Amino acid sequence: MSDVAYNQEPPLLSDTGEQDVSPESPAADQFVPPVPRISLQAFCETPDVASMLETASLDRRLARAHITVQMGGVEAAVAFYADAPTPNLIIIESVLDAYALGADLGRLAEVCDAGTKVVVIGHVNDVLLYRELLRNGVSEYLVAPLEPLAAINCIGGLYHEADSEPLGRVVAFIGAKGGVGSSTIAHNTAWSIAEGYLSDVVIADLDLPFGTAALDFNQDPPQGLAEAVLSPDRLDEVLLDRLLAKCSNHVSLFAAPSTLDQVYDIDEKAYEPVLDVVRKNVPYTVLDVPHVWTGWAKFVLMAADEIVITAVPDLANLRNAKNLIDLLKQGRPNDRMPHVIINQMGMPKRPEIGIKEFSEAIGLEPAATIQFDPQLFGNAANNGQMIQEMTPNTKPGESFDSLATLVTGREQPSIAKKSVLGPIFEKLKRSKKD
Ligand SMILES: Nc1ncnc2c1ncn2[C@@H]1O[C@H](COP(=O)(O)OP(=O)(O)OP(=O)(O)O)[C@@H](O)[C@H]1O
Ligand SMILES: [Mg+2]
Repeated sequence: MSDVAYNQEPPLLSDTGEQDVSPESPAADQFVPPVPRISLQAFCETPDVASMLETASLDRRLARAHITVQMGGVEAAVAFYADAPTPNLIIIESVLDAYALGADLGRLAEVCDAGTKVVVIGHVNDVLLYRELLRNGVSEYLVAPLEPLAAINCIGGLYHEADSEPLGRVVAFIGAKGGVGSSTIAHNTAWSIAEGYLSDVVIADLDLPFGTAALDFNQDPPQGLAEAVLSPDRLDEVLLDRLLAKCSNHVSLFAAPSTLDQVYDIDEKAYEPVLDVVRKNVPYTVLDVPHVWTGWAKFVLMAADEIVITAVPDLANLRNAKNLIDLLKQGRPNDRMPHVIINQMGMPKRPEIGIKEFSEAIGLEPAATIQFDPQLFGNAANNGQMIQEMTPNTKPGESFDSLATLVTGREQPSIAKKSVLGPIFEKLKRSKKD
């Protein structure tokens, strides 16, 4: 193996084994990078680790990797690769002690092709063994038992180190029904992220025929998201820059054409290359997903880092929100729950389902409730401004700020700003990026 140059010396074991090398599972709101298109083969010795890896393999962040999990440990791996090429990554589980493990990995090293990485999952929590394995070219040593997310985080880390491109967080917004205010909430939250954290945000308006993001920001760009989706091969940082419309210092817009001269029967994965380029270049991407249920809409929701569902308090919204939440829970078992916003509360003369009843039925507390305020929202829409920009410190404006804190997983800007060095760090970070 080129990455693993294992010598046959037995690794030294510490007497006490007191230093803990077991990986902590990242919190559900912590960013775990997606893994690129690699081949990964795991050889396990215990059913628990095999089933943990099977669960991990279903996670959205491993959706592009080609993964097989089999039993037999290092013995099976050595036999398997004697006359088969090795994949990008081999995961070996071993219940052996340090000496036997070292010898077995030496035999594996002999059959590994150049460029193959090896991760070992062991049952000995010992820092000297850990260091010894790493010194001999093993990419990572993980101690069982471990959570699927810890394994995914480790695998993602191996590939993103090499890349060294920072990856942005993608937040998808969808309505439980049409017209409930999902786009309005998406755009205002994007603005709060940009202004509160002085971070660049791209809003992608995925509602190609009817999107309103350009109107909401008073823009009329000649090109935008449709050009990017229809020519993914040409899309790089330069083209990206050309297709984005600048709405403010930190908000840029991938506008929808919002015309009906063509139909957009796009492929399930049509947005994938676009999002790849955007997330490599911008720390936050806000996806304004229309209320449709197509292959691509489901795909972008499933792949997003955070999801915000907007609903108004009626029965159809309740049913749809619950169906969406159930599907997302099932398809994203290692992720945070979606955030639910109940919008347009208190619309005159409209019968409503109470917040308590609504929350119980969907099994989630809403992240925010926003009153129906046609004057405030109507004026902002007519002015092509965001609520906080037009009238600071309204209740809905504060909800958008809180939502920005929630979906970014960062501290509230007011707390972050208390640090005297905050702005200096921010500048340094920015100049580093430039
Ligand atoms: N809390 C609110 N009070 C009053 N009006 C609101 C509120 N939230 C949104 N609106 C208004 O509701 C209308 C629909 O909003 P928006 O376009 O954001 O909804 P949507 O869910 O994205 O709709 P679509 O299904 O068409 O994409 C807009 O005119 C917006 O200004
Ligand atoms: Mg919309």
